[in-house]
Formats: sequence, structure tokens, C-alpha cells
Amino acid sequence: MSMPQTPPARGVTILGTGRAVPEGRLTNQDLEKIMDTSDEWIVQRTGIRERRKCDPSKGESAVSLCTDALTRAIEDSGIDRSEIDLLVIGTVTGEMTCPATACRVGKRVGLGNAGAFDLLAACSGFVYGLNIAHDMIRVGRCRTIAVVGCDVMTEVMDYSNRGVSILFGDAAGAVILQATEDQSQGILASALHANGERWADLYLPRRERDVPDQDDPNELQLGTLQMRGREVYKFAVGTFANLIGETLEKAGIEASDVAQYVCHQSNARMLESARERFGIEQDRMYVNIDRYGNCSAGSVPVCLDELRSVGKCQTGDLVMFVAFGGGLTWASSLWRL
Ligand code: UT7
Repeated sequence: MSMPQTPPARGVTILGTGRAVPEGRLTNQDLEKIMDTSDEWIVQRTGIRERRKCDPSKGESAVSLCTDALTRAIEDSGIDRSEIDLLVIGTVTGEMTCPATACRVGKRVGLGNAGAFDLLAACSGFVYGLNIAHDMIRVGRCRTIAVVGCDVMTEVMDYSNRGVSILFGDAAGAVILQATEDQSQGILASALHANGERWADLYLPRRERDVPDQDDPNELQLGTLQMRGREVYKFAVGTFANLIGETLEKAGIEASDVAQYVCHQSNARMLESARERFGIEQDRMYVNIDRYGNCSAGSVPVCLDELRSVGKCQTGDLVMFVAFGGGLTWASSLWRL
């Protein structure tokens, strides 16, 4: 008779990180040439100056970005790729729904028969994946898991829709999580939330029947992201701050205890408002939206990798990951690294 397993006492560590962004740039000046907008409007409303854009003619895609980011994360972690038990990719812009992007990336990176799946939580996809992967390691189901967040948003933009297309860019970021004997390392508090009632505020219709009643399918381009920007903004600005508050409270710590807030880059004004509400100093809430725009699930892991490359987010630090996106979904993950 098999006995119920007692979870082994173990911590979880982020062993390595990597990122990949395409070389192609789409600046505000480029957008001025193809739509009625201005650099001044975009910078003032969003903080964005340029974003990166995949070039399919060079073979750039979600698969190539994830492959590059994951390869770099494996190198950074110093593990052998055969140690990876599972690959989780948060994306809403995989080339196909079958097979999962993760299966194709696993093949390219050489992960053998490691499990692989995609996770659909839009801009929250990476943080959702991070929480799930962490808990699978903590309870002893896996020892090493790779989590990637990636979106190729320029492929789902309608550049005649200026209220949406100025925001988004392409990027992937990856982390390698592994079990450690140091039980102080890992998640102290986390949250996964969704509100499906608000799905029509941010959606990607494939067919005419996907379009909600309040929108006219003849006035939009199928296969491109639709967003009620102002509604999403209002919802997100409160939710973002509440999520930080909820996570701090669950962990029983103060905002000032957290060394770094690694947040989804949705809008610089939104980050600023959360920062002010909690009195967080500027250098403890990273911003790179000026260079990349909103990269959906790619935003948070790219921020983490950039922070690590300048010596921040070190072992022992308290780091909070925060994201918000389509679904609507929102999620957080507070780590002792
Ligand atoms: O990560 C996924 C979650 N998504 C988000 O977090 C996005 C949240 N939303 C936002 O960041 C903001 O709503 C936007 C930046 C998208 C838009 O800013 P806004 O201040 O909410 O503008 P708005 O949509 O209310 O539009 C204000 C005006 C309108 O003109 P009128 O009607 O006042 O004459 C728009 O037509 O700005 C106009 N407008 C633009 N003007 C120049 C909209 N887009 C543009 C543009 N350039 N690109």
C-alpha cells in the first residue's frame, strides 16, 4: 500500500535568468509616420519611447525568443539542461495552440522528455507560472523547473488602432528554479486572481463569434488585440496597489522591507501611482517601459534579468513580482531569493 508522501523540507531558489529581445526597434517617431499620434502624447501618457519588434523574415518568433532566453538562463544557472524536469511558458502569442510553444522550445533547447506546457494568463502569465512552478518544487514533485514569459505582441497589433498599438512590444525572459536545502529561500506570500466578468476589456478575437456584443466585428480586425484602455487603466491602477498591499499583509512585512519590486510594465503612470501609495523609492521599483513598451508576459522576467545583470536581486533579498493583464488576471509572488 502506498503511503501519502510528506513534502520534503526544502526551499526554492532562482538559480539563473536570461532574456531575449529582437534587434528591430519601433520608435515613437516610426509610429508618427504610420498613424495620427505624437512622441509627446505617447511619452506623457505611457512613458514609452520605443519597443522591440520581431522580424518573421529572419525567423524571429515566440519560439526563437523563448529558445534564446531559456538558453541564456540555463548558461547563467550553470546547470546541465538534462536536469530540467518541466518547462512552463506563459504566452498568449505562441505560433499555434497545438503544439504548445513549450514543446517546440523544449525540443530546440534539448530538454529531452521533460514536461512542457503553455500557460494562458496574458500579462500575468509569467508570475502565474512562477507561483505554480515554485509550489511544485516545494512539495517535491519536481527538482528543477524552467519558467519563461514571452509575448510577440507586434504580431497581434492593428497599427490603425492607435489607442492600443502604441503600447506593446516583443520580448522573452526566463528563470531556472531549483530545490535547495536552504528552507529560507522561496516564496513567502503569493496571490493568483482573475475576474472573468471583465474579459471583454482586453481580448484577442480569432473569429467573428468571439467579439462581444458591445463591439462591432466589422469595425475591428480579427486576430488583433482589443482593449478598452481607459477602463483597464482604472481597474489596473487600484488592483496593482491592492495586490502589493495584500501580498505584504500575507507575508507580515512592510513595503520598505522589500528590496525590489519587479512589476509588469503596463504604463509608467500606473507604476508611479503604486510607488507613491506605498512610499517606495524610485530605485526599488524598476522601470524599462521606455525601452521596450508593454511586453505582456515577457515584461517581468526581462526586468528581473536586467536587474540581476547590474547586481540587484541578490541572494537573501526580498523581491516582489507583480503583474496584471487580460482575463482580467492579476498575480503576485514575494520571494526571499
Ligand atoms: O498590460 C495590459 C494592460 N493594459 C494596460 O495596462 C493599458 C491601460 N490603459 C492605458 O495605459 C491608457 O488608457 C492608454 C495609454 C491606452 C490611453 O490613455 P488614456 O489617457 O486613457 O487615453 P484615452 O483612451 O482616454 O484617449 C484620450 C484621447 C482620445 O481623444 P479624444 O477623444 O479625447 O479627442 C483618444 O482618441 O487621446 C486619443 N488617443 C491618442 N492620441 C494620440 C488615443 N490614442 C492616441 C495616440 N496618440 N496614440
